[in-house]
Amino acid sequence: MCAIANYSVHPSHRMRRLRATNTLRRMVRETDLSVDDFIYPLFVMHGDERRPILSMPGCDQIGLEVLGPEIEEIVELGIPAVILFGLPEEKDELASEAYASDGVVQLAMRTIKELAPELVVVGDVCLCEYTSHGHCGVVVGGEVQNDATLEILARTAVAQAQAGADIVAPSDMMDGRVAAIRTALDEAGFQGTPILAYSAKYASAFYGPFREAADSTPQFGDRRSYQMDPPNAREALRAIERDIAEGADMVMVKPALAYLDVIAKAREITHLPLVAYNVSGEYAMLKAAAANGWIDERRCAMEVLTGIRRAGADLILSYYAKDVARWLREEQG
Ligand code: PBG
Repeated sequence: MCAIANYSVHPSHRMRRLRATNTLRRMVRETDLSVDDFIYPLFVMHGDERRPILSMPGCDQIGLEVLGPEIEEIVELGIPAVILFGLPEEKDELASEAYASDGVVQLAMRTIKELAPELVVVGDVCLCEYTSHGHCGVVVGGEVQNDATLEILARTAVAQAQAGADIVAPSDMMDGRVAAIRTALDEAGFQGTPILAYSAKYASAFYGPFREAADSTPQFGDRRSYQMDPPNAREALRAIERDIAEGADMVMVKPALAYLDVIAKAREITHLPLVAYNVSGEYAMLKAAAANGWIDERRCAMEVLTGIRRAGADLILSYYAKDVARWLREEQG
């Protein structure tokens, strides 16, 4: 008899038995969400203002001089880590403020490390927020130059490590950046600084709200010549294997929701910590639907984030981190 085709196991097999009470459901639950799983993105700028980001309700661009209360709140909520994106005073062709020792992110890192030495500070290593053209690398003749960009990325990573970054996270998608950054960090004495590589980062329309938040929309063209083509999954696995070979300590898949299959496949090929980025457009969709009263925001957000963990992510970058910390606290009473 073929067991697979035999549906007559009912009534002896009743799956509903283990769904009957909350306690039973708790006992057989396969995936959990903890505040420890989250990295909260922050947008830092010069000055003493807090400017709301319209397409990302609940998130602000925060001035260096008023970072204090935000950091206090994050620490109080038990969130273990933040990732920093910067809005420079001025943009130029070579992204000078990305690697200046008094660049906005470096200043923010020093401030945060003074306020909360235990909070893990991740530096996003990319040039698009700092270049006048808005691309993630050096542009010559309308083309983003791979190898010329590596040196600037490496300088940026070292400047961040010098400012106190606990982890550096290249998101530019140039080939060879992990090796270039590893070499530069080691030469500068930062052998202990881990690299979180945005290994499988797709050219996604879900970054729309972020580009408003970070003022990083490319002034011409798009990012398809360096970010990944959405239909490809095997290529993501190659990129992950390549980054591991170059010395990545953690790898990322980004965005998360349209790429849960990629997260699941990545989980099968690496024992490194796997990170997923629940990006700005994913956040904005839930916020917009919730603001219209169309969905239960809390339940939808928890379901989405649990799904990302179930797919195989260890850690999640999410604009929902603070809300999740509060919700989990409420659940635990
Ligand atoms: C910078 C960068 C982007 C995001 C993170 N780092 C934007 C982009 O690549 O265009 C997007 C994050 C989000 O949408 O939440 N390269």
